[in-house]
This record gives sequence, structure tokens and C-alpha cells, in this order.
Amino acid sequence: MAATAYVNGSFVPMRDALVPIEDRGYQFADGIYEVCLYIDGRYWDLDGHLTRMERSLRELRMAAPMSREALQIVMAELVRRNRLKNALVYIQATRGVAPRNHAFPPPQTPPSLVMTAKRFDLDGSDAIAAKGVGVITQPDIRWGRVDIKTVSLLPNVLAKQAAREAKAAEAWLVRDGVVTEGSSSNAWIVDSDGTLITHPKGFEILGGITRETALACAADLQIKVHERPFTVNEAKSAAEAFITSATNLVTPVVSVDGAPIGDGAPGPVAMRLREAYKLRARRA
Ligand SMILES: Cc1ncc(COP(=O)(O)O)c(C=O)c1O
Repeated sequence: MAATAYVNGSFVPMRDALVPIEDRGYQFADGIYEVCLYIDGRYWDLDGHLTRMERSLRELRMAAPMSREALQIVMAELVRRNRLKNALVYIQATRGVAPRNHAFPPPQTPPSLVMTAKRFDLDGSDAIAAKGVGVITQPDIRWGRVDIKTVSLLPNVLAKQAAREAKAAEAWLVRDGVVTEGSSSNAWIVDSDGTLITHPKGFEILGGITRETALACAADLQIKVHERPFTVNEAKSAAEAFITSATNLVTPVVSVDGAPIGDGAPGPVAMRLREAYKLRARRA
């Protein structure tokens, strides 16, 4: 079955899902996005993702392409038309189509909205988590407002490609000696006391929705958390490490720059958190 996309008011076959070349997302990366996980016929952490999307739009002074209620109807229809039970749904909104000029287009310019859905393999993800993944470190050369989920991702693209070339799953971004986050995930370590450490929210990281749910899971499990920056050296000598994102859920990290973390196998805290996340997200 051919995949179906949503483009500015219509559901169309993927091959016909096109936007004009003067879309500001294409020319200026003047847009925002969300990636939502859909498991067993339900969106996980949906409120969190839609709230963050509204915030991203507000921070960039962009009009919402439609109401939250309408968006949810389109999201439900997209997975239905694609006959998906487990999916990753990509939503992108841009400041619309207008003759190229850096300044905002006239206020009546309608925003663009596109959505795609692809199959998500939860068993495959569990298999990856059971083995754990390697990360490498890369300099964090991103702009000063990475808390906004913009489609302007070139530094993330370069970092992820460096990871791929090093046969690692993710690149941890380092600024002033501290790990801010991954190229497409939040970064965590577990110290020898079993305390979780992750960079605090602020302009320097994207406030992950999975990160938020993982924090709630940690509270449920009475696992201590310290939201503070950690260094690469701390990471290399940590008891455990892991990443969180809608795509990775909670995935253990077993090496940083080739150095094994702990005994080089997924840690018990990360695995408990992954299970707790899966239970909690199903209820959300
Ligand atoms: C840079 C970055 N940080 C963190 C995350 C994790 O966010 P979430 O848990 O909402 O998927 C992502 C997800 O794409 C990301 O791109």
C-alpha cells in the first residue's frame, strides 16, 4: 500500500506530497516540527508533544496552522489511512509560502502544515535497547535557542552523520566541556549512588517530552534525579548512561567515544526506567 501524507488540507499519496519552492521551511528553515510515537493504536505523551508544538510556534511568532482539536483529528486520520498500529508521526509547520525575503511575510500568509507517518517497530526497538548503543562526542555548534524544536537542524545532521561514520548510534553534543544533549535525544548518566543526572532545561537543550515522562517515572520509582550539566569525563566513569526520545524511548548507552560505560552492558536503572516509561506512556 502506498504511504499517504497530509499536505495543507489534503491527504495525498507520498509521491504527490509536494510543497512549493518558496515555502519558508525550504528556503529559511523557518518552521517547527514534532515527532510523535503511536503505539497499539494510541499516541503516547500526546498532550506534551502538542503543548511543546504550540510553544515552539509562539516562540517563533508563527500562527498555529489549525486548532489542537483539528490537529488531533488529522493525526488520527493519517494513521488510519496508512493502516498503521505502531508509527512515528512527523508534523511540520512553517511560516508559509511567500516571495523570498528574510523578514516575515504578510500576516495573512497561511502557515504550511505537513504530516507523514512511518511504521515503528517496538520489538526492534526493544532488541536495540537490550544490547545498548554506543555514542560519540561532537562539539555543540548549534544556535542559542535549541529549546525551540525548529527544522533548522544542520549541526544535528552533521553530528549524527559523524556518529554513523564512527558506527555509533548517537552523537552527544559538548559545549564548554559539558554534554548538553544528543543530536536527536536527551542525554543521561547514572552515578555510582544510582542518581540520574541530566542537563537542566533551558535554552541549551530541547526539553524532551520523553525526558519529562522519564523524570515522572523516576519519581514513581523513587530514583533520585539531579538536573545538572555533566562532563564527558563524568560520563565515561558513570555507572550507566542512556538516551531518551520519542524514537528511542529510553535506550541504554554502553559506550562513549569507544570507552565502555560500567561493565559495557545496558544498566539495570536504564532498563527499569524503560519498562516504567512503556507502562506510563500507555496510560497517558
Ligand atoms: C535535539 C533533541 N533533543 C532531544 C530530543 C528528545 O525529544 P522527545 O523526547 O520529545 O522526542 C529530540 C527529539 O527529536 C531532539 O531532536
